[in-house]
Amino acid sequence: MKQPWWKSAVAYQIYPRSFKDSNGDGVGDIRGIIEKLDHLQDLGIDVVWISPLYKSPMDDCGYDISDYYAIDPLFGTNEDMYELIDEAKKRGIKIIMDLVINHCSDEHEWFQKALADPTCEEADYFYFRESKDGPPNNWRSMFGGSVWENVGGDRYYMHLFGKKQPDLNWENPKLREKLYENIRWWLDRGIAGFRVDAIVHIKKDPTLASREPQWDGMCGLLDCARNYPGINDFLAEMRDKAFTGYDVECMTVAEAPGVPQEELKFYVGENGFFSMLFDFTYSEINLWNAGWECARPKEDIPTTELRDSIYKHILDAQEVGWTAVYLENHDYSRSVNKYLPTGDQRDYHGVTMLATMYMNLRGTPFIYQGQEIGSTNIIFNSIDEVNDISTLNNWRGWTAAGLPLEQKMAGLQYSRDQNRIPMQWTAGENAGFTTGKAWLPINPNHVEINVEAQQNDPNSVLSYYKKLVKARKESVVSDALSLGDFEPVLLEDGDIIAYKRIGETSSALVINNYLKAEHEVTLPCAVKSVVLSNYDDVAIEGDKLILKPYQAIVFEI
Ligand code: GLC
Repeated sequence: MKQPWWKSAVAYQIYPRSFKDSNGDGVGDIRGIIEKLDHLQDLGIDVVWISPLYKSPMDDCGYDISDYYAIDPLFGTNEDMYELIDEAKKRGIKIIMDLVINHCSDEHEWFQKALADPTCEEADYFYFRESKDGPPNNWRSMFGGSVWENVGGDRYYMHLFGKKQPDLNWENPKLREKLYENIRWWLDRGIAGFRVDAIVHIKKDPTLASREPQWDGMCGLLDCARNYPGINDFLAEMRDKAFTGYDVECMTVAEAPGVPQEELKFYVGENGFFSMLFDFTYSEINLWNAGWECARPKEDIPTTELRDSIYKHILDAQEVGWTAVYLENHDYSRSVNKYLPTGDQRDYHGVTMLATMYMNLRGTPFIYQGQEIGSTNIIFNSIDEVNDISTLNNWRGWTAAGLPLEQKMAGLQYSRDQNRIPMQWTAGENAGFTTGKAWLPINPNHVEINVEAQQNDPNSVLSYYKKLVKARKESVVSDALSLGDFEPVLLEDGDIIAYKRIGETSSALVINNYLKAEHEVTLPCAVKSVVLSNYDDVAIEGDKLILKPYQAIVFEI
């Protein structure tokens, strides 16, 4: 059966502000991305998701769009964008853009019109409500505080994220048509699809009723504005009217936490709303029921807990269709800090084990910029070093709640800006990112961790990532690793993460020793050859496999 191209693709995420600055203003841009396309080609990337490049006041770094058709001058021009699409194509790379349509910016023309004239057509593109005694309900925004903002008199508008990100009213059919028009306009310009931002929030409880108050008198959005019944009608319509009908099948990746298992088939099953989705369970495993200020380091997270949360999503998705796999994005701190015990962030074997563990799961793997060189968190010494709206809001909340400085500083280390600091290209000034002053601090460890140092070193993390990509694409088990079925094995051993991938023409066994110690396991089946390992040798005695500390192995079976 012919499979869609995006199933066997390897994807890469670019956060454009921090990828490469071509003009010395300290912020990355489109021409910078063009300069670095060869790096992505070398790595074997098929498709690149670029975080928002559209015109924006940048209150949430571009996730607040004021013109869906224009590139923000900070990043370049529309012509630069078209050139990027062409240049990428020459290298066999497709581009997908970010689609931020749960909300826009308060500086979008629609919102400006709506503010000026409450009776105009655009006023109904948003959630405006009148209320005499304070906010119309007790919903708490994702970035803290009420979801309601007063615009004078009794008039309020709703924003599930920041104040400058008014939510769009998907109940209005004219608005929906405008959004679909925009989607098709960009697809017509040659992009291959979209990563679809915050899409599980587009349907709200139409009564807008308050919920049981929590500690601050407000309530979270989970019951009232996330995966709310009725959302499927909007998503099906968007699939049919916006995403369907292109020669190269459009790739859509939904940012979709919390989709109930019984709904998953509608999202990523046959003719699903999307090609795949980003689930949050394992990516927020360190935050269970808490904020950054209470985050757990890996040494407090049993490997079985991590394994089971990953496997649950992979198995749920396998039952119905496809998914995306990832360890990092622009909303988290670095994976080596999250998933490796304190002290092991730069352990070559730990870092490459982690990469082997996730890159061979069943789904389209995404590599976040810098992950391919084993980038680590930086130490933020003060709140003044960060820019991120949600970090600043968290900090205010912690201060209001009287948290001790020490705990606030600990929380700060999980800031989204960890992954937004500049890409480390060289050991030179500003890590080769800019000739000016970078918009966020440069990690001092760029003198050791950088692309230039790693690209010709066969024993670098970067070279290992290249091997992983290659194993998926051109090895004796490429069919198994890219499209094969997923089957957990050795579940009784809580220190390893192991699974089989069973393809049509080949099968593989992937074993990852999550211990920084030698560890013996009984092979669950006969093995034919070693496709890849992060050590030169693989020790097998009879049916026993003696794993070295953090050893990862992909076998042909
Ligand atoms: C998504 C984005 C995040 C942004 C938010 C609001 O979660 O990934 O960066 O702040 O949506 O658009």
